[in-house]
Amino acid sequence: MEYRVEDHVVLPTVDYRAGRVTIIDQTLLPAEESLIRLSTLAQVAEAIRTLRVRGAPAIGITAAYGMLLELENLLASLVVDPPGYFFDRNEGMGSFPGGGLETARIRKTLAEARTVLARTRPTAVNLFWALDRMSRTVKGGGRDPVALCGAIASCAFAIHEEELRIEFALSGNGADLLRDGMTVLTHCNAGGLATAGYGTALGVIYRAVEQGKRIAVYADETRPLLQGARLTAWELMKRGIDVTVLCDGAAASLCASGKIDAVIVGADRIAGNGDTANKIGTLTLAVLCGRFGIPFYVAAPWSTFDVSIGTGKEIPIEERDASEVGSFSGSPTVPEGAVIYNPAFDVTPASLITAIITERGVITRPSAAKIAAELSNPGDGPPPQGG
Ligand code: MRU
Repeated sequence: MEYRVEDHVVLPTVDYRAGRVTIIDQTLLPAEESLIRLSTLAQVAEAIRTLRVRGAPAIGITAAYGMLLELENLLASLVVDPPGYFFDRNEGMGSFPGGGLETARIRKTLAEARTVLARTRPTAVNLFWALDRMSRTVKGGGRDPVALCGAIASCAFAIHEEELRIEFALSGNGADLLRDGMTVLTHCNAGGLATAGYGTALGVIYRAVEQGKRIAVYADETRPLLQGARLTAWELMKRGIDVTVLCDGAAASLCASGKIDAVIVGADRIAGNGDTANKIGTLTLAVLCGRFGIPFYVAAPWSTFDVSIGTGKEIPIEERDASEVGSFSGSPTVPEGAVIYNPAFDVTPASLITAIITERGVITRPSAAKIAAELSNPGDGPPPQGG
């Protein structure tokens, strides 16, 4: 199912094809590789909430496409004899009669769609970054309804396309940190399945391998939903990269053994001082790295920074349903009535992070001053949330 962009292998994690949001259903992996087509806003919201599509950048792209889908369905409801579809990522925008179309109606419908999508998951800031960028286009898109529809579609497609370019750039910056023969530990899944199709933390590894370096990877299982075991191992094996899966609890003895040269993870939200929220269990790895002298790298695009907040204490942490911990493959794992604690993310303080790898470059020993300096530097790429 993968395809090539330039020299890079890319997964069709999320796409907008023939008037529908198309995703790989990640809840079925690795048993089944299945593309599903989402035809309503409710289906898109459900897919994000239930982790059919997951990972901060992929959630942002899917949310932008959710708004476009709502526009698609509004147009279809207004036209007497609708064509098969109005929007497609390859073909762009089809033609449709302007009559009956009012900018006020479009704006109201998409504002409501934004509200629905913003309620799906609270931690990954890329979701809100993408929704805000779409909403700015909806508000500022002028009085001509046909031009407004074009601007909205272009914005959604640009979010997707730019994200992929950002992943290529970020990965190139990070690959310089990896030497031939290194062994890397990662947590959760920050690869093609979590992004526009290439990856952030795994993108760094992919780029190093593309450069001819031999890299071995250990992938934490990532309880309770097993993103590391099910998704990261699946991606790495598809590419023929040496991968070993371990239980999360085995990470300490592995790090103590001296076998790990670096830990690389993704991020869901990075505060103005560099504190980083990522999948629950990431903080454990950062503490281990500090204890055993292993570099701890975070790889993330600028859209994952939230400089509207000063520290990680302000990052909202999603708490998910107890059933995710209390059962496994349909069987209970705890006595009935046991109290369960199931936060989906934790926050690693900036002081434990060796460097944050972005598309603009590598911020070593991140701090509020370094992030602010980078922000005031008008480089390429979109500004971070709140910037
Ligand atoms: O709950 P998930 O699977 O959406 O959590 C994903 C992560 O924590 C990823 O590491 C993060 O979003 C970065 S993805 C490039």
